[in-house]
Amino acid sequence: MATWLITGGAGFIGSHLAERLVARGDNVRVIDDLSSGKPENLPAAAELTIGDAADLDLVERSMAGADGCFHLAAIASVQRSTEDWLATHRANLTATITVFEAARRARPDRPPPVVYASSAAVYGDNPALPLAETATPSPLTAYGADKLGSEQHARVGWLVHRVPSTGFRFFNVYGPRQDPKSPYSGVIAIFAGRVAAGQPISINGDGLQTRDFVYVGDVVDHLIAAMDRPAPDARVFNVCTGRATTIRRLAEVVAGIAGASPTITHGPARAGDIRESLGNPAAATAALGVVAATPIEEGLTATLRAVAGSAG
Ligand code: NAD
Ligand code: UD1
Repeated sequence: MATWLITGGAGFIGSHLAERLVARGDNVRVIDDLSSGKPENLPAAAELTIGDAADLDLVERSMAGADGCFHLAAIASVQRSTEDWLATHRANLTATITVFEAARRARPDRPPPVVYASSAAVYGDNPALPLAETATPSPLTAYGADKLGSEQHARVGWLVHRVPSTGFRFFNVYGPRQDPKSPYSGVIAIFAGRVAAGQPISINGDGLQTRDFVYVGDVVDHLIAAMDRPAPDARVFNVCTGRATTIRRLAEVVAGIAGASPTITHGPARAGDIRESLGNPAAATAALGVVAATPIEEGLTATLRAVAGSAG
C-alpha cells in the first residue's frame, strides 16, 4: 500500500487530493498549520499532524517511509504576499526548501519524489500568450517570486542532491471547498459566496483582466499522474485549460448560473495584478497524458451548489 505525505493537505486543493488518494486505498499523511485549511476538509482515514511545513524535524519525521511528497502548503493569496512579504516568504519558499531537504535526508541514496505547487504567477505580464513553459518568467509579486524560487531550488535539489521533482504552474484553480468567506480567497469562491448571500460583487479595476480557470478535479488528475510517473529529473508544467475568461464575464456567468442579478461595483485595480493570464497545456498533456477538460459552466455549477449547500 502506497504512503504519501501531503503538506497543506487540509486546504482546498490538498483535501481534494487526499480524498482521491484515500479512495484508491493509499495511506495519506498530512502536515498543515490550519492557517487557512480545516481538519473537516479531510477524509477520516487521513492522518493529520498540525504543524509548520518549514519545520525540518517535523517534515523529516513525516517523510520517513513515505513513497513521495505532494508539497502544497503555502499562503496562496497573492494579495497577502504584498501585505506581509516576509511571513509569506517563510511559507512559500522556506517551506519548499525544507521539503526538498527532508526528502534527501529521508532516503539519501534514492530520495522520494516531490510533486509541488508552483504558479502561473511566475510569468508576470509576459505577453507571449498562450504561455508555454519556455516563456521567460518575470514575477510581479513576492508570491510569484517565491514560486519561481521554489522551481530554482527544485532544480538544485535534483542537480546536487538527486531529489526528483515535478512542479506545477497551476493557473487559477476553483471548485468546491475554496473558502467563500475569506477576502484572500480565489475570485470564483468570493463571487459565489456573495451571490449566494445576496450581496454585491466587487470587481478590481475594469474587469477586463483575464484568467485561465481550471477545475480542482482536473488539478488532482495532474498531481496523481505526476506521482504515478515520477520525474527522471526536475521538471515543470503548466496546469491550465488554454481558455481565457475576463473577470467581468465571470461575474455574469456566476450570476446567470445562480439565477441572480447582483449589483456589480468596480474598485481600484489591485497592485501587481496580472492583466492577461492564459496558459498552453500541451506539455503536461504530452508528458503525463492528462487534460483539464472540465468546462467552466460545469465546474461553476458544482462550485455554486457547494457554496449554497454550506451557506444553508
Ligand atoms: P489553501 O490555502 O486552501 O491551501 C494551502 C494549505 O496550506 C492550507 O491548508 C494552509 O492551512 C496550509 N499552510 C499554509 N502555510 C503553511 C505552513 N507554513 N505549514 C503548513 N501548512 C501551511 O490554498 P490552495 O488553493 O489549496 O493552494 C494549494 C497550493 O497551490 C499552494 O501552494 C498555492 O500557492 C498553489 N496554487 C494555488 C492556486 C489556486 O488558484 N488556488 C493557483 C496556483 C498555485
Ligand atoms: C490566483 C491564486 C494564486 C495562484 C494564481 C495563479 C488564490 C487566492 N490565488 O491568484 O494562488 O497562484 O491564481 O494564476 O487562489 N478579483 C476581483 N474581485 C474580487 C477578487 C478578485 O475583481 O473580489 C480579481 C483580481 O483582482 C484578479 C482576479 O480577480 O484580477 C483573480 O484574483 P484571485 O482569485 O485573487 O487570483 P490571482 O491573483 O490570479
